Amino acid sequence: MTTLRMELGKNSYDIIIERGSLKKAGEYLNLARRVLIVTDEGVPPEYANTLAQQCKVPVTVTVKEGEGSKSLQVLEMLLRSMLGAGFSRGDAVAAVGGGVVGDLAGFAAASYMRGIDFYNIPTTLLSEVDSSIGGKVAVNLGDVKNIVGAFYQPKAVLIDPDTLKTLPERQLKNGLAEAVKMAACFDEEAFRRYYEEGDILSHIDDIIESSLRIKKAVVEEDEKEQGLRKMLNFGHTVGHGIESLAGMEEDRKEGLYHGECVAIGMLPMCGGEAKERLLGVLRKIGLPTKAKADADAVMAALAHDKKAAGSVVTVAKLDRIGEGYLAKTELSALAEAVKEALA
Ligand SMILES: NC(=O)c1ccc[n+]([C@@H]2O[C@H](COP(=O)([O-])OP(=O)(O)OC[C@H]3O[C@@H](n4cnc5c(N)ncnc54)[C@H](O)[C@@H]3O)[C@@H](O)[C@H]2O)c1
Ligand SMILES: [Zn+2]
Repeated sequence: MTTLRMELGKNSYDIIIERGSLKKAGEYLNLARRVLIVTDEGVPPEYANTLAQQCKVPVTVTVKEGEGSKSLQVLEMLLRSMLGAGFSRGDAVAAVGGGVVGDLAGFAAASYMRGIDFYNIPTTLLSEVDSSIGGKVAVNLGDVKNIVGAFYQPKAVLIDPDTLKTLPERQLKNGLAEAVKMAACFDEEAFRRYYEEGDILSHIDDIIESSLRIKKAVVEEDEKEQGLRKMLNFGHTVGHGIESLAGMEEDRKEGLYHGECVAIGMLPMCGGEAKERLLGVLRKIGLPTKAKADADAVMAALAHDKKAAGSVVTVAKLDRIGEGYLAKTELSALAEAVKEALA
């Protein structure tokens, strides 16, 4: 078992990483109260059930799987469930699932009675290495992602890597994209040891821990994303443009996952040795490195995403592995990067 402590003054919390910890969640979390357990239809129900058995008064809500559940309608449904079950300030919300359920349940916890305790129990690799810590919670408004939300830190994060045994391989690779992002920007040794040398999946526990250590250090330095935390958006500028387009397509199966879009979006932001090395790792994992989409449509989606920031945007770049940096770029200059990301 490893416990990392996110040091954020009065908002500090423990991140517990332990195989089998879900079965003994009650030892780490205060479950002797009403607990709204939020999960989705794609998460094996045994995980939410295991948690519910340890709560004094569990109220489990299972939402539809997918990005569509990060909506104001589903948020309202959760808030009404809490009100209906008589939740008070001293009760809690727990997310059991991936980033969708974590972002949604976290925002419900942040809003109900101006904030009640939130526990995050992530069950996808993406959420175990990235989205479950850091306190960004949100829902979408139509096609605009994460536009309604808050910075709201969890009371604790419980990571049981055994939950990954049921995760489909494509979802595992999807999560690896965010993990690779963190090592590429901040930790050359981890990049070499876990991704370039040897068998990536045999290092999964180390990958989870080292990714969380990186993200933790960044969040501790810049909780509200005024500066350094923007580095974690490496790959996300072009990635979001591609993702919002893929999200608008009717057949989501043909679309791309978040981490896949990030993988594609990272490469055009690389120069020097970083590009070849990153390309090698993405290929080794089996992540896509190009998207099929119309360049003008991606640019339009990206500009829409960035319009609040004006014509100059800050983007994360990488020339040497482990040494990511932020640079100001004209929105128009991103058109070249978009072209590079498309097949
Ligand atoms: N808050 C943040 O800092 C942050 C950071 C990165 C991404 N995100 C958000 O996270 C979301 C993506 O998260 P995600 O990739 O975890 O997607 P997800 O939550 O949609 O989960 C992916 C799929 O896996 C299924 N699943 C979950 N756990 C499983 C398990 N153990 N076994 C089998 N199936 C399982 C889910 O039902 C779902 O169908 C996006 O909405 C993105 O915006 C947030
Ligand atoms: Zn991301």
